[in-house]
Amino acid sequence: MIPCQRFLFDIPDDVAYLNCAYMAPLMKPALEAGTAGLARKAQPWRIAPEQFFTGAEEFRATAAQFFACSADNIAIVPSASYGIATAARNLPVGRGRSVLVLAEQFPSNYYPWQRVAAENGATVKVVPWPADHDWTAAVLDSLNADVAIAALPQVQWTSGGRLDLVRIGEACRRLGAALVLDLTQSLGALPFSAGDVQPDFAVAAGYKWLLGPYSTGLLSVAPKWQGGIPQEENWIQRANARDFSSLTLYSEDYDRGARRFDMGERSNFALLPAAVRAMKQVLEWKVAQISETVGALNRQLAEAAAELGFSSPPERLRAPHYLALRRNQEIPKELPEMLAREKVFVSVRGSSIRVAPHVYNTAGDGDRLISCLRRFGA
Ligand SMILES: Cc1ncc(COP(=O)(O)O)c(C=O)c1O
Repeated sequence: MIPCQRFLFDIPDDVAYLNCAYMAPLMKPALEAGTAGLARKAQPWRIAPEQFFTGAEEFRATAAQFFACSADNIAIVPSASYGIATAARNLPVGRGRSVLVLAEQFPSNYYPWQRVAAENGATVKVVPWPADHDWTAAVLDSLNADVAIAALPQVQWTSGGRLDLVRIGEACRRLGAALVLDLTQSLGALPFSAGDVQPDFAVAAGYKWLLGPYSTGLLSVAPKWQGGIPQEENWIQRANARDFSSLTLYSEDYDRGARRFDMGERSNFALLPAAVRAMKQVLEWKVAQISETVGALNRQLAEAAAELGFSSPPERLRAPHYLALRRNQEIPKELPEMLAREKVFVSVRGSSIRVAPHVYNTAGDGDRLISCLRRFGA
């Protein structure tokens, strides 16, 4: 178990911030790294051409550790949607085939497939909400030879339901379906191994469980797709980019591995150092230990909330870091504002109160949420 790390964050004692699934607070050392990076732009003569590459490579190497893959498989992207769009651009979907998504899937991993389906005479096939909370079984039931691409998360974002991606990956390979993953609500808080799951493309926005700044994202691309078509044709993806004086000796070749999928201006001198600093801290804590520590807090919260009539998916079927509380009655839409007035922060997503703590939270933060819910009779 990781001892409380609140001292690293700028979170006042009277704030119970239980909303990492919305947006992580930037830890002080990451803020310092980002501020120092931004300040460099005030004196650009200090930014040497090679630094367009060193910072990006450090980001890539650090990001790769979350996927347990080589840095060569990582592209730097601004968002989950950019990564999914890259996958959608490269994976074939024939007429009459389908793209499999979950019920209530996050829009960034739904809209691109809606377009792909419309353009290719294919359909989007939705895995129905499983009454028994077992998303893995529901996906395996829906996977058949018609499915060209399974576009899935590791954690269903409104229920906290967890998918067994190793089993799903095996089934996809057996059926010849590609696997595209949006790991935004799990990478950094739930262990992941690209070697075990073998996704074709897997992306995560960095501003939630990787504790990074907004507009930083990580895309892992399987070697078999690294000859594909990037979203953009920019200068820095090309093999000759390191020689600034010869950029107009246009190169037909891309830089190696997944670098061809990097976004334009990927060498962001303010955001990348902040993202790297945050990711290094997460790696130092260890993802499995974050999961265990945050999971223990959520277990206590789930038990206390059960006494108020809230249910959550059984522990073996949900992600430890992600707690969705439901009740028979509707959750009032204004509940987050009522809680915010008490300086308690959670989200309502779908028909659940979504509670998403991290290692900066204390048991006292959870107690404050429960006492507010009791008081509001929510
Ligand atoms: C599951 C999931 N994916 C992706 C995102 C963010 O998407 P994007 O990076 O495209 O803005 C969110 C944000 O809440 C999310 O919950």
